Amino acid sequence: MTKRRKLPGLRKDEGYTVHPFDETYGVRTSGLIAGRHLGAGHAHDKQITAYFGVAPSVFKRLIAIWRRVGARADFKNPLSEYTFIDVGAGMGRGMLLAAEMGFSNVWGVELNPVLAGIARKNLRRWKVDGRLQNGQRMKLIEGDATEMKLPAGPVLLFLFNPFEARLMKMFLESVEAQRVGNAAPLNSNPVELLYVNHEQDVTIERRKVWARFFKGDVARSKADAIADHRIMAAQPEGEYTSANHEECSGWKYRE
Ligand SMILES: C[S@@+](CC[C@H](N)C(=O)[O-])C[C@H]1O[C@@H](n2cnc3c(N)ncnc32)[C@H](O)[C@@H]1O
Repeated sequence: MTKRRKLPGLRKDEGYTVHPFDETYGVRTSGLIAGRHLGAGHAHDKQITAYFGVAPSVFKRLIAIWRRVGARADFKNPLSEYTFIDVGAGMGRGMLLAAEMGFSNVWGVELNPVLAGIARKNLRRWKVDGRLQNGQRMKLIEGDATEMKLPAGPVLLFLFNPFEARLMKMFLESVEAQRVGNAAPLNSNPVELLYVNHEQDVTIERRKVWARFFKGDVARSKADAIADHRIMAAQPEGEYTSANHEECSGWKYRE
C-alpha cells in the first residue's frame, strides 16, 4: 500500500504549525497551502488563491458587525433565519465557527477534494463530540462555488478570499441569476455577503446590484495574530503575509 502524500504546506518540514482552534476542538484546520498546489483537474483551479483557515477572532467580530448593520433588522434571530454558506470552505473552520456561534443552517462549498474530505471529517468530529446545538444542520458540498444552487430563504455568503477576479465575477453572476428567478420576493429572501481579505472588492463594487454596508479592518486577537504569524513565518517560499487585522467588507444584494 502506498502512503498518500499530504498536500504541500501540511507537513511539519514545510512550515506546518497547529492553530489553537484545532487544539481546543480536536479538529484539523491548520496550515497554509498555496493556490498552485490545490489544483485537482477542474477548469477553475487556476483561480484558487490559497487555503488558510479564517482567524476565529476576525470571523466572530465580522459576524457581530453583520448582526448590527447588515442583517435584516426585523428578524428576531438572524442566526436561525439565514442559511450561512462558507464559499470556499476549505477544511471547514468557517463552518465550525458559524455552528459554534449558533447558525441553524450551515453550508459550505469546497472545490478541492482533499480539503473537502478533511472538512467532512471535522464536521463528523464536531457532531460526535456533541457540539451540534438544537436542530443545527451542516452540509458540505464538494464542487465549484459558481455551480452551487442557493437554498430558498435568507442567505449569508461568507468568503475568505477564495478566488481571483474572474471567478469572483462568475460567482456573483450565478448568485444574481438565482435571485432574479426566485419566486419569493427579495424582501423575504435577503442575500448578504461578508468578504474577508477582500482583494476583489472592486469586482463587487462595479456591480450595481450590491450595496455596501461595511468596509474596514477587523482586528485579529493576540492569540490569532501569534498563531497566524507563526505559520506565515514558517512558509518555505514566504509568498503570503498576514497583518494583525483583515481588510473586510459587507454587502447586501438589492436587485
Ligand atoms: C482562504 S481558504 C478559506 C477557507 C475557509 N473559508 C475558512 O475560512 O476557514 C479559500 C478556499 O476556497 C477554495 N476555493 C477556491 N476556488 C473555489 C471554487 N471555485 N469553488 C469552491 N471552493 C473554492 C479553496 O480551495 C480554499 O480552500
